[in-house]
Amino acid sequence: MSKSPMITLNDVSKRFVGSVDDAVTNLSLTVDDGEIVTLVGPSGCGKTTTLRMINRLIEPSSGTITVAGSDVGTVPVHELRRTIGYVIQQVGLFPHRTVRQNIATVPSLLGWDTDHIGSRIDELVDLVAIDRSILGRYPLELSGGQRQRVGVARALAADPPVLLMDEPFGAVDPVVRGHLQGELLDLQSRLHKAIVFVTHDIDEAILVGDRIAILNTGGILEQFGTPGELLARPANQFVADFLGSDRAIKRLSLLPIDVSLLEPSLPGTAADQCMAAIDVGATLKEALDAIVSGNGRDVAVCAEDVCVGTVTIDMIHRRLTE
Ligand SMILES: Nc1ncnc2c1ncn2[C@@H]1O[C@H](COP(=O)(O)OP(=O)(O)OP(=O)(O)O)[C@@H](O)[C@H]1O
Ligand SMILES: [Mg+2]
Repeated sequence: MSKSPMITLNDVSKRFVGSVDDAVTNLSLTVDDGEIVTLVGPSGCGKTTTLRMINRLIEPSSGTITVAGSDVGTVPVHELRRTIGYVIQQVGLFPHRTVRQNIATVPSLLGWDTDHIGSRIDELVDLVAIDRSILGRYPLELSGGQRQRVGVARALAADPPVLLMDEPFGAVDPVVRGHLQGELLDLQSRLHKAIVFVTHDIDEAILVGDRIAILNTGGILEQFGTPGELLARPANQFVADFLGSDRAIKRLSLLPIDVSLLEPSLPGTAADQCMAAIDVGATLKEALDAIVSGNGRDVAVCAEDVCVGTVTIDMIHRRLTE
């Protein structure tokens, strides 16, 4: 029997008082243990509202939400929030509290003793790669990337099984953003949280999401699936447009080389005798790049310095159209 999801949204809608339209409309989603689900969609489509209904900062107008099998409406709010870490849009660190005090927020609320809090901060500093020298500083004295890391550390402080992240890397430049995305994936491979990650950047959604929920205005779910499923079979024009005109290229970067489909030329040849060679662990996007930079010539695929076959442009085309 398969395990039940860590987070379930069942037909959830939200209409704010005084509004004539739903901010979220009949939304159903699940998030498993160890899974990152990215919520992506245009500004105002209900992403933040959805996150805030999960930790009950906002009450749904209808529908049910469960976390770890319990209806969030029936769990005392303070108990619920203990199981849910929240990285707020624009980070939202407390400006008059030091980094150390910010990270210690939830443990302090839970009444942990000073030693316990201190050792947890020590662990978190290593976990999210914070420089110890900034622990005594205030948020305004940090770079954007440092602030984001502190926000993540604060959300993880009490080791909650669920993490809600609202555009956590929205305020940093692309290079730092790339580092933080990589670190999140690394962290997740060790911590196995159930994570809902909001972004309006489809590339980020594809990179960090095990599954992606594409929302339209009014919190209408247009498609929910793995990046590969969405890129291969967008449910409608809205999804196709959102994924972008380079959808095929994005898909290639998710597809590994399939050794059984390689052309059998050059097997056994040493890698240094091949014209252009890529590693067997490369993606089809990397294979395509190598073909393009070799003016269309086939590219040898090597495992441990021995060629195992050749990848051709026809093969890549077939993989995209199958
Ligand atoms: N407290 C509120 N009262 C009334 N309307 C609200 C409230 N909070 C959000 N809304 C409205 O609900 C809709 C969804 O807002 P939400 O903040 O969830 O969007 P979002 O997808 O997170 O957008 P962004 O990408 O800009 O952060 C918007 O139309 C917004 O104006
Ligand atoms: Mg938002």
